[in-house]
Amino acid sequence: MSIAVLRLGHRLVRDDRTTTHVALVSRAFGCKKIFMTDVDESILETIKRVCDDWGGSNEFDVEIIQDWRSLLKTWKKNNGIIVHLTMYGINIEHLSHDYPHGKNILVVIGASKVPKDVYFIADMNIAVGNQPHSEIAALAIFLDRYFQGKELINSFDNAKMKIVPSSRGKIVKIRKLKKSN
Ligand SMILES: C[S@@+](CC[C@H](N)C(=O)[O-])C[C@H]1O[C@@H](n2cnc3c(N)ncnc32)[C@H](O)[C@@H]1O
Repeated sequence: MSIAVLRLGHRLVRDDRTTTHVALVSRAFGCKKIFMTDVDESILETIKRVCDDWGGSNEFDVEIIQDWRSLLKTWKKNNGIIVHLTMYGINIEHLSHDYPHGKNILVVIGASKVPKDVYFIADMNIAVGNQPHSEIAALAIFLDRYFQGKELINSFDNAKMKIVPSSRGKIVKIRKLKKSN
């Protein structure tokens, strides 16, 4: 069972940096995939470069979709759960039930105004506090609660570079690539 993200809406140029960060948080914090609607090619290149350098090219996928409503319908039809992160939802601190572990989860986050039907298609509308802030912060906090911190010690396969954690300075191990004949 896995967790994926749907980045709903993207205002060209203005949202490039935010959408890139949403994708990087998704990868780093344990999601297997991000679905995005129209985005600039440079965003895809950045994510690919991060996966090439830091690993995960086979573990994290990006898919550009046109019809997000059809994705939501298919997700539900396949018995998946849709979690929409919105400041109007139930405060994550007050959720009375457990997160739906054991099912594929699609976490929906918006860019600007999210269409009303999303609030009803979603199985859960969850607020990371009932104040407006940021999709990057909301996603990071939700994933951290969901994985209970374990996502922070994730490591990825096929990394060219690996950090050796140190309390002072920067230590990075560079993997030597085998020469092909
Ligand atoms: C900048 S906000 C735009 C919100 C917009 N005004 C609306 O009515 O949907 C972009 C996204 O950040 C996320 N977000 C912002 N504040 C949130 C909160 N308190 N809890 C959960 N998600 C939040 C939501 O996914 C939202 O769609």
